[in-house]
Amino acid sequence: MAARGLEKSFHGRLILKGVDFDMQAGDITVIIGKSGSGKSTLLRALAGLTDPDDGQIAFDGKIVFAEKKRTREWNTVRSEVGMVFQSYTLWPHMNVLENLTLAPKKKLGLKPAEARDRAEAALAEVGMAQHILSRPTQLSGGERQRVAIARALMMKPKLLLCDEITSALDPPVAAEVLDVLRRLKEEEGIAVALVTHDMAFASKAADRVVFFHNGEIAVNTTPENAFENCDNPDLKKFVDAVRF
Ligand SMILES: Nc1ncnc2c1ncn2[C@@H]1O[C@H](COP(=O)(O)OP(=O)(O)OP(=O)(O)O)[C@@H](O)[C@H]1O
Ligand SMILES: [Mg+2]
Repeated sequence: MAARGLEKSFHGRLILKGVDFDMQAGDITVIIGKSGSGKSTLLRALAGLTDPDDGQIAFDGKIVFAEKKRTREWNTVRSEVGMVFQSYTLWPHMNVLENLTLAPKKKLGLKPAEARDRAEAALAEVGMAQHILSRPTQLSGGERQRVAIARALMMKPKLLLCDEITSALDPPVAAEVLDVLRRLKEEEGIAVALVTHDMAFASKAADRVVFFHNGEIAVNTTPENAFENCDNPDLKKFVDAVRF
């Protein structure tokens, strides 16, 4: 995935000021930056939940956004982009299986048995196979978040966009959820972009670290450079403020 020159304003305030952003198969890109700097706005633009005002987005060489609108190609790739949010957004009145199979049955026309097979495989990937008939209210926060990831996997995404998915979790539980992402990138070659305030994870598991500042990607580098040899004063200030 390659985004070029993304711009977005809200109420006349420029939030994305011409952002270039790339994701590679099998990479975890961690996005860090101050609250309100535009991290969620970028992910939402990539996921098709909001349209940029300008710029270009391409998946596998297909232009999916250009000249201020989604192209027809977007329809052919939109199911390859999964997004997981901080709040689990599972339907409380449906069990895990129903939560996972609703969209694939509707959007991909999967038969119930096919959908169930796929749900079992997705739940196995996140270590939640035994909870297939549980209701979300019967699960812990970490378990719900793993189900939310499994639900994104149902559409067999090539890109997984994760917006603060561990912010509401205790550190050990967050670590389990993040391990799931690490496995997915290694075993499935999924490209992951992750907004997080967890600098320990960012420095351990990221392939790239992107620092958002004033609507721009101020730094795009390796974790070592971002955290050990950082020469960007804004990033240094940010990292010192949230030091683990
Ligand atoms: N739908 C919207 N309507 C109006 N303003 C918005 C909208 N979405 C985002 N904004 C504004 O754009 C700015 C960037 O928001 P965004 O959610 O992308 O920040 P963020 O970096 O994800 O912050 P946080 O770390 O707090 O989640 C904020 O000032 C926010 O108020
Ligand atoms: Mg946000």
